[in-house]
Amino acid sequence: MTDMHLIPVPQLRTAMRAVVQGFGSSQAEVQAVATNLIDANLTGHDSHGIGMLPRYAEAFLQGGLRANAHVSTLVDAGAMLRLDGNAGFGQVIGAEAMALGIARAQASGSCIVALGNSHHLGRIGAWAEQAAAAGLVSLHFVNVISRAIVAPHGGADARFGTNPFCAGLPLSGRDPVILDFATSMIAQGKTRVALNKGELAPPDCLIDDQGRPTREPRYAVIPPFGALLTFGAHKGFGMALMCELLGGALAAGMTQRDDASAQRRVLNGMFSVLVDPAMLADRSAFEAEALAFLDWVKASPAREGFGPVAVAGEPERASRARRLVEGVPVDATTWQEILGAAAKLGVDPAAVQAAAGLGG
Ligand SMILES: NC(=O)c1ccc[n+]([C@@H]2O[C@H](COP(=O)([O-])OP(=O)(O)OC[C@H]3O[C@@H](n4cnc5c(N)ncnc54)[C@H](O)[C@@H]3O)[C@@H](O)[C@H]2O)c1
Repeated sequence: MTDMHLIPVPQLRTAMRAVVQGFGSSQAEVQAVATNLIDANLTGHDSHGIGMLPRYAEAFLQGGLRANAHVSTLVDAGAMLRLDGNAGFGQVIGAEAMALGIARAQASGSCIVALGNSHHLGRIGAWAEQAAAAGLVSLHFVNVISRAIVAPHGGADARFGTNPFCAGLPLSGRDPVILDFATSMIAQGKTRVALNKGELAPPDCLIDDQGRPTREPRYAVIPPFGALLTFGAHKGFGMALMCELLGGALAAGMTQRDDASAQRRVLNGMFSVLVDPAMLADRSAFEAEALAFLDWVKASPAREGFGPVAVAGEPERASRARRLVEGVPVDATTWQEILGAAAKLGVDPAAVQAAAGLGG
């Protein structure tokens, strides 16, 4: 285990805004990127939080991530939008793409948003939460263009990314259901976090460079590379495949094929379906049915070794509530990497350190 810093949220916001300013971003972009990354940490997904900044800095310095870019519309077919993210920060591009789709779905009842060429969209649940806050159901199939990291079921090397799937369902007066996961056994960032913390990866998640099972997270982080496995054997593989075909081939016009390890940028393609449930069904009848089912499911008695049954979205909300009070734990290696990224972006690491309340 390496040392951990526990950083109060206000200090972390100030410190991370200082780092993001190094990209030359507008104030709105600084706010969007820092807020989204810290929110990923708050939800417990440290793999998609501020620890991504060093990678973003490398991508930016290589020209693979563009500051202050915005979504442009390639096809406007009313309830279908094809959008280009212009390699901009996914934290801005994702929000803009969802806002466009939300407006159309509120007018027409549904909208398909095909987004390509966005830099890393971070925690995909953020986009389902944005849709749910507007009263919309949403589905998101996402591909990842970066170094291939996940092996196909039965394959001995990596052929695609951690291709996340996400679905959100709003409920009036109650928290939405937000299902949001990588189709790999674990998100790639979790291997980076494990390596930085000096921990092993969970069993049955990884193969080494010879295709043999391993728990060493390094095989997903530093050469020689092995691969992550998909969850649920051929079923997760099938889902990852559909994320690549819908998010990649259909939405983005770009699938993972060649080895892109020299490039540090991470591009996401996202195929999203937004639906206004109130236009499809009687909203109160639908919600009464949904709530009755959720209560029924949660009433299942806990099995030995498990806590009470939770539904998707609850663990993230519990983590957010806890970390808002306690602060965000950041391991010392990740923190040093963030300070290193700040220096590369021309931001004084000592000022970032001080802003986080960690002394000079
Ligand atoms: N942008 C990208 O390229 C990219 C790629 C891969 C993953 N990601 C993101 O990484 C994040 C982490 O993914 P992951 O696969 O590690 O997530 P995970 O394995 O922690 O699963 C999270 C999902 O499972 C639910 N869940 C967790 N524990 C539960 C329990 N005990 N009972 C019921 N439901 C439970 C959560 O509410 C959530 O919906 C996600 O936000 C995902 O969008 C992004």
